[in-house]
Amino acid sequence: MPYDPTSQSNIDELKTNHIHLDLTVDFSTKTLSGSAELELEAIADNVSKIVLDTSYISVRSITSNGKALQFDLAARHEKYGTALTIELGTILSKGTKTKVTVEYATTQDCTACQWLEPSQTVGKKHPYLFTQCQAIHARSLLPCQDSPSIKLSYSANITTPLRAVMSAVPTGEDKHAGDKTTFKFEQKQRIPSYLIALAVGNLEGREIGPRSTVWTEPEVLEAAAWEFVDTENFIRTGEALLTPYDWGRYDLLVLPASFPYGGMENPCLTFVTPSLLAGDRSLVDVVAHEIAHSWMGNLVTTENWEHFWLNEGFTVFVERKILGRMKGKEHSEFSAILGKKALQESVDLYGQDHPFTALRPCLRGEDPDDSFSRVPYEKGFNLLYYLEKHLGGAEVFEPYLRAHVQEFAGRSINTDDWKAFLYLFMEKTFGQDKVDLLNKVDWEAWLAGTGMPPVDNKFDDTLAQACSCLCKKWDDSRHINPPTGFAAHDIKDFSSTQKVVFLEKVSELEPLPHGHLNTMDKLYELTNVRNAEIRLRWHLLCLKADYEKIYPEVVAFASSMGRMKMCRPLLRSLYKAKNGAELARETFIKHRSFFHPIAAAMIAKDLGLSK
Ligand code: BES
Ligand code: ZN
Repeated sequence: MPYDPTSQSNIDELKTNHIHLDLTVDFSTKTLSGSAELELEAIADNVSKIVLDTSYISVRSITSNGKALQFDLAARHEKYGTALTIELGTILSKGTKTKVTVEYATTQDCTACQWLEPSQTVGKKHPYLFTQCQAIHARSLLPCQDSPSIKLSYSANITTPLRAVMSAVPTGEDKHAGDKTTFKFEQKQRIPSYLIALAVGNLEGREIGPRSTVWTEPEVLEAAAWEFVDTENFIRTGEALLTPYDWGRYDLLVLPASFPYGGMENPCLTFVTPSLLAGDRSLVDVVAHEIAHSWMGNLVTTENWEHFWLNEGFTVFVERKILGRMKGKEHSEFSAILGKKALQESVDLYGQDHPFTALRPCLRGEDPDDSFSRVPYEKGFNLLYYLEKHLGGAEVFEPYLRAHVQEFAGRSINTDDWKAFLYLFMEKTFGQDKVDLLNKVDWEAWLAGTGMPPVDNKFDDTLAQACSCLCKKWDDSRHINPPTGFAAHDIKDFSSTQKVVFLEKVSELEPLPHGHLNTMDKLYELTNVRNAEIRLRWHLLCLKADYEKIYPEVVAFASSMGRMKMCRPLLRSLYKAKNGAELARETFIKHRSFFHPIAAAMIAKDLGLSK
């Protein structure tokens, strides 16, 4: 029986096989309205009702084969939304199928949707809508069994005045009198509800590979097509490592700046932040990451958000395998070093005994958005990295990874399922020796322990050395005023990631004198840098030193960049910096409508404006 503490649906009694959505997009009322037809199947006997997850959805009527059904909306659960109970008027036995059609509309409170005014888009002429359903926001887009343990196919007809794209394959368009078109989609593979996604706006597409189109507003299409040329190579490398790519298309959608994540692995159509458009292809690892989700997360899915590491830890592991194969081992190891640093920051932020620093946290009563951090990504990666080494290296582990995908494709699994198959595969393929090795692993510490991982993996630091050397030079110069011996060419041969690591290392030091920061900025042109990852680290370094000259830059960056990885630490650091607290709150309040509802809720908590 699937278990999911963050869904109120009776997933132990019924499963959804298919959903058909028929929705009209209304930019004037900022609502979607129409119907969701759910094809359900009883997985137990004596089933008399369906309980669906909803959140801020208004239900008009529910029918089954044209017959009206009685329904009831419960009092809202603060975190999990409003349970919608539908009386079937009959008793289903195990294996019986039924269809229900819910006529409904979303409301302005729906957390999955962000409705942008024309002024919030690049082109400034047309409105824009996009959704973000992971982790538990799909229930505010449609009534559903909003649990990743339920996998369904879906189809959709979306009627809108602007182009619609979805996490599915387009199957046609019907033009209507007036300015509306119905865009049709079909997702034939079974996916969890959190992967249903929709965007509507002034979108144009350009082919960037044999199975890939990049979609953006026309103003950034050229830049996007240039930045993401490596897409097909990432997919091929993933296929060589795992199994053939099974989703047909792999398109990319570059969203407006308020998109709250770096990327979101919506099947057939990855959503990405425009902050990846650095103009130097240096940030496309995010695309490799989202492609890796095609296997890890989208084919093999976590059963509930307590095992989120099965999605993200595995994906980071595969992402770094792809990176290693394409660019060399020192690059993937460098990425792992960066990851460990980010993990340490998450652990420090929560506190090392905090339950959310465990790989497999308990989420009963918790909002998964609150538990989201680098922990599932990097602790998960470190576990797999350790296991690979411990069991004998890539020759043993890569065949296992492929077998893992083949075994669990199309299913939702938990950590116990994962571990059982790992043992089984190792025993069957390599014998008792490997089982003995597995028995030596401290599973309890890895899975349940809090804080940093129990094993401190060592990574090749070839690419990190130059960063450490330069950092040390600045540290050693802190009493020399003005600092001497530095020049623009210090970082001339640094990759973007090396610049990031250099700045992170300097951040770990006692703050440098302001005069030093000024010199560093002049020589390395940090305030004017276009690359958002470098800019972020520079701002954080300055904030830590209470360097007030940077505050206006921070305000401008944080209020125009909705990617939570960037705006949240910036506003948090500004809030903590000298004379920064009020400015941070003011900035957020003034620009609240810029942020996606998910980001706005998290920032409000960060700045002590809500609990
Ligand atoms: N699936 C995640 C984004 C996500 C996580 C959305 C949790 C909602 C809840 C996506 O694949 C991801 O991990 N994105 C990262 C980029 C990656 C390179 C680590 C991001 O957004 O920074
Ligand atoms: Zn991910």
